[in-house]
Amino acid sequence: MKILMVCLGNICRSPLAEGIMQHLADKERLDWEVDSAGTGNWHIGSPPDRRSIRAAADEGVDISRQICRLFRVSDFDKFDLILVMDKSNLSDILAKARNNVDRNKVKLLLGDKIVPDPYYDDTQFAPVFKLIEAGCKEIIKEYKTK
Ligand code: 4NP
Repeated sequence: MKILMVCLGNICRSPLAEGIMQHLADKERLDWEVDSAGTGNWHIGSPPDRRSIRAAADEGVDISRQICRLFRVSDFDKFDLILVMDKSNLSDILAKARNNVDRNKVKLLLGDKIVPDPYYDDTQFAPVFKLIEAGCKEIIKEYKTK
């Protein structure tokens, strides 16, 4: 199973989601490959936000070597599941979908809830880690036999 995590900047939420999902999948010995990308181009080539790196490190997850990249249409071909953090990510990615096969791969990580953007609030990185972790555990439950 190949999963792509998507947010706006690809420096706060989706790097956490990539790191957490890969960490949990590895722990469960699932042969899953996880990546992340952003819909906005401001931070291409940069590592994750240091507040995300720290929030992850505090929970034993190393995201420090990730590099920010932009979502590309070919990601629809490479990945089985594209998990987005909020409704604007959802509409941005759905706008790039070429057909229903593409569209059916795209879901909110938290089902019907959003992962709020912590970029402007230092206090939100630890809670956002927990939200993403809970979402990843649900996804593993749902997809682990596939
Ligand atoms: P992210 O957070 O989408 O969780 O990576 C953001 C990071 C940077 C910006 C916006 C959101 N920005 O506007 O630069």
